[in-house]
Amino acid sequence: MNLKGQTAIISGGLGDIGRAIALELAADGANVSLGDVLPPDQAGGFLEQLRGYDVSAMYTQMDIRDASAVASWIHETASEAGLGIPSLIISNAGIVTRASFLDITNEQWDNEFAVNVGGALSMCRSAAQLLIQNGLPGKIVLVGSWAAHRPNKAIPAYCASKAALRMLGQVMAMELAGHGITVGEVAPGAVNAGLSAKNLQAMTPEQIEAKIPVGTWIRPEEVAWQVAHLCDPRNANMTGSVVVMDGGLSLTSKWT
Ligand SMILES: NC(=O)c1ccc[n+]([C@@H]2O[C@H](COP(=O)([O-])OP(=O)(O)OC[C@H]3O[C@@H](n4cnc5c(N)ncnc54)[C@H](O)[C@@H]3O)[C@@H](O)[C@H]2O)c1
Repeated sequence: MNLKGQTAIISGGLGDIGRAIALELAADGANVSLGDVLPPDQAGGFLEQLRGYDVSAMYTQMDIRDASAVASWIHETASEAGLGIPSLIISNAGIVTRASFLDITNEQWDNEFAVNVGGALSMCRSAAQLLIQNGLPGKIVLVGSWAAHRPNKAIPAYCASKAALRMLGQVMAMELAGHGITVGEVAPGAVNAGLSAKNLQAMTPEQIEAKIPVGTWIRPEEVAWQVAHLCDPRNANMTGSVVVMDGGLSLTSKWT
């Protein structure tokens, strides 16, 4: 796939799936602007790795819950030498709170929605406004989850926020279609990294794999391939689509 000359912005860009997405899009020729709440020293070596693909790469420390910080990140990217107005918008930052419905606090609930849904709203809105003002097409990809359509015990805010994210994506797809901006979601199941690696510590890898119909965890690179697929300029008619990649988890009742 040729993404040369395009610029991707990736929230949660220093996380496990975010890094895999950045590498995949850079390998396809896209310049990359990463945003994450982590300090800049954690980005240095990774930016050099991305530049090895002969693309431009930058990092901005920002909190996705802060709409003005998100807008600044997008505008800085647009004016940065070697980058430009982002046309590939990858909303990936996410958190999970392990607390049952009976125990979760309103603060935990609100915080998870602020990151998983509010952050996506701020990022996609600012980026889409900039594209529309400049008459440019673009592609928005949300990193959602199978938890959007399949209840999981003990992570109510995660399930509800990913369900809200999915509907936000479908409304955006309708509103942005006439502007040449498509919207898609990749909905992974259990990925052997990032949030699941932390959230599923009570189970051994063998116990987890025994619950997955295809019998294997997903690697972050597999998520990145699907994100790249939704960024492919040849996919002009894929909008409002959800790419479920969960090894069949949604089809079974063997999970929690
Ligand atoms: N790991 C899985 O099994 C799995 C499965 C389905 C979906 N997902 C989704 O994939 C995405 C990436 O998750 P991951 O597994 O790579 O986890 P991760 O923890 O490795 O990455 C998440 C990144 O988001 C960043 N982040 C968190 N809060 C932020 C904030 N307020 N502002 C800016 N950045 C913030 C973190 O610093 C981190 O770098 C998430 O949206 C998650 O819901 C993950």
